[in-house]
Amino acid sequence: MWGGRFAGGPSALMREINASIGFDKRLWRQDIAASLAHVAMLETQGIVSEEDESAIAEGLERIEDEYCLKGVPEDPALEDIHMHVEARLAELIGPAAGRLHTARSRNDQVATDFKLWVRDSIDEVDRALNAFQRVLVARAEEHAESVMPGFTHLQTAQPVTLGHHLMAYYEMLRRDRSRFADARARLNQCPLGAAALAGTGFPIDREATAAALGFDGPTANSLDSVSDRDFALDYLMAATQCVLHLSRLAEELIVWASQPFGFVRLPDAFSTGSSIMPQKRNPDAAELVRGHAGRIAGAMVSLTMTMKGLPLAYSKDMQDDKPPVFEAHDLLMLSLQALAGMVEATDFDTGRMRAAAEAGFATATDLADWLVREANVPFREAHHITGRAVKAAEERGCALADLSDAVLGEIDPRLDARVRAVLTVDASVRSRTSYGGTAPGRVREQIKRAKKALAG
Ligand code: ARG
Repeated sequence: MWGGRFAGGPSALMREINASIGFDKRLWRQDIAASLAHVAMLETQGIVSEEDESAIAEGLERIEDEYCLKGVPEDPALEDIHMHVEARLAELIGPAAGRLHTARSRNDQVATDFKLWVRDSIDEVDRALNAFQRVLVARAEEHAESVMPGFTHLQTAQPVTLGHHLMAYYEMLRRDRSRFADARARLNQCPLGAAALAGTGFPIDREATAAALGFDGPTANSLDSVSDRDFALDYLMAATQCVLHLSRLAEELIVWASQPFGFVRLPDAFSTGSSIMPQKRNPDAAELVRGHAGRIAGAMVSLTMTMKGLPLAYSKDMQDDKPPVFEAHDLLMLSLQALAGMVEATDFDTGRMRAAAEAGFATATDLADWLVREANVPFREAHHITGRAVKAAEERGCALADLSDAVLGEIDPRLDARVRAVLTVDASVRSRTSYGGTAPGRVREQIKRAKKALAG
């Protein structure tokens, strides 16, 4: 491509370090789409003849068919996807192929292709998030009344419902979708026509190419256009935040599937056995989602470090922008689908969940609240009295509701038999009726809102 000035070709090592075709071939669809938009504009503007334009467009469409059928054939002599397409075009249509690169550079070309790719990825991730949300909502509806222990510090805290717990993840994914949507909106300006860095003297129409490629308009500054990778970082940061959420759910499934918990039985389709311990049923898929979170966060840090301190405009360091994004995309899509599959098919052992909620003095707060409500005791004092009740129950090895009237009276004279009514886990859950609370009615309200949002 730059033979005019060079006497010798690159060394084998130079070729190897310079090559990006091994990974940027994933941009082929976007590269062809951007070239088609570019050449159509060149023709409209009278920069390329109608004849050359149709030869170029037909050639590009033929390459598209070829790649679609057989993939991109990698030629080690050609550095990247842009050169592969151009070289193939020259083979197909001859010297007219050389006109395609008028008024553009690989710098604006790669920025455009990559933005288009990230935009497609965002749309794909959004569909996967939407599908996962539907699974969560369906399972939450099924379990709007199933009682389980709610935890803080992984210590039994207060009873909640499984539906409420699952809807917490729905909310996380809702924020993830909004983060990806923000990234998409910010990304949607077209760098094509910024050329190498300074713009071009040809009378191009950047509005036209931007519109043809579904962008809201052209980018405003050519230097920024070719050196900006914010969109890739926005994407990686949204992906990192999203997979952090997934890793938390994965971790919960792992803990819940452990024998001491026994809250869930993971589906066969998402578990593995052990080669030596026949009793085992390992939550590998969930563990891998938890592990992939580290790799996606690593990808985000990788591109952050690549971009740090780079002078304007394009530098070849930026070629390293693609592997972390591709890796994050692949891992995120897999994680989303696998985790959604697990949640969809997991058997929740609601009996064990309820028993666990009943075991850990989870209704202690209800006892304290009852003292506040019925006997006008200040909450701090009620908390102390309840602490004594928990101690008494612990000593006797019984539940709070099983303390005798006499013992209750000893703990505090304001305690009497009526308090037992608030000490069941069902009563506790039903009483949490504040907005966003765990009462089944409130959970159903959340589900209703979610269904509406998912339908809209
Ligand atoms: N393969 C290159 C990349 O991904 C394309 C841009 C090359 N530009 C250049 N000035 N060498 O960044």
